[in-house]
Amino acid sequence: MKILLTGGTGYIGSHTAVALIDAGHQVTLLDDFSNSKAAVLDRLRDITGTAMDFFEVDVTDEVGLEKVLSERTFDAAIHFAAPKAVGESIERPLLYFKNGVGGTVALLQAMERHSICNIVYSSSATVYGMSDDLPLREDAPTEVINPYGRTKLMCEEILQDLHQADGRWNATALRYFNPVGAHPSGLIGEDPQGVPANLMPFISQVAVGRRPVLQIFGDDYPTPDGTGIRDYIHVLDLAEGHVAAVEHLASDPGYDVINLGTGNGISVRELVDAFERVAGVPIPTEVVGRRPGDGPASWADASKAADVLGWTARRSLDEMVADVWRWQSQNPDGYPD
Ligand code: UD1
Repeated sequence: MKILLTGGTGYIGSHTAVALIDAGHQVTLLDDFSNSKAAVLDRLRDITGTAMDFFEVDVTDEVGLEKVLSERTFDAAIHFAAPKAVGESIERPLLYFKNGVGGTVALLQAMERHSICNIVYSSSATVYGMSDDLPLREDAPTEVINPYGRTKLMCEEILQDLHQADGRWNATALRYFNPVGAHPSGLIGEDPQGVPANLMPFISQVAVGRRPVLQIFGDDYPTPDGTGIRDYIHVLDLAEGHVAAVEHLASDPGYDVINLGTGNGISVRELVDAFERVAGVPIPTEVVGRRPGDGPASWADASKAADVLGWTARRSLDEMVADVWRWQSQNPDGYPD
């Protein structure tokens, strides 16, 4: 298939590009480098042996999108491009509605003009809000707890409405749990700007000496060791989930939502212990108060992805850590400018 990846140089987009090429597909990447670097393109060429077909375009730029879709033909798009920081979304909601929601609408309009009616959308387990009905199934009630989560839910609903209005549309919203890990080459990985908001990149920056100590946000949760539990999934498993989802669009599935997780919950302390053991590096920690908006535990019911897509996450926690550590130790300051 010929596939457009918006946000193609981002963390999940870049790993998905590798997985799609490995599976024999052709990819065109689009990104505005608002949260990624051009060096990703060189690294992708080194991994795949192929120069990337790339357009520097902001997904809200209708003229830019039209140019890409006029110059290329596509069977489907995978839409990753969107801002994703919860705290920033609370401070700057309009940025999130313009880029997260407006970017999705602009992309869908451009696709419609070119009769490309197949899309895989990057959604998030954040749409389950604070639900403690574990494991989380796709038919669990959704709940908005911040503007970022609202953009994800709104885009899911837009896709559902679109399919309702025009049955030619096939749209699969993938609800990601907590992506971690990196390509085993150590050439691409997660490179957050500024202070990492998420646990695994924070741990790896402590491990490499960029930060002195990991703050554990609460050890008084109702979990076995008191720290928060999440469903960490290797980014290459997640990437392969996108390959399965985009290939599944060919069977005309209409609109659907599917969790991408492992189905296993890991606590903050368990993740820190695994990192120290696998990387062989001490991670100093200090327990501080809970982070506002965090729930105690979240993990997926991953059975729908297995049933519908024939996909299951297969990489272990140790592989996630080993691959993060290889990426971080080979690139202590992330990608070069
Ligand atoms: C966070 C977002 C979620 C978003 C996801 C995207 C919040 C409240 N939630 O999810 O909406 O979809 O990122 O990747 O921001 N932790 C620490 N110390 C740290 C960082 C995290 O103890 O420095 C703990 C958290 O309390 C949590 C776990 O580690 O228990 C995982 O945190 P994180 O990686 O931020 O993921 P989520 O909170 O699941």
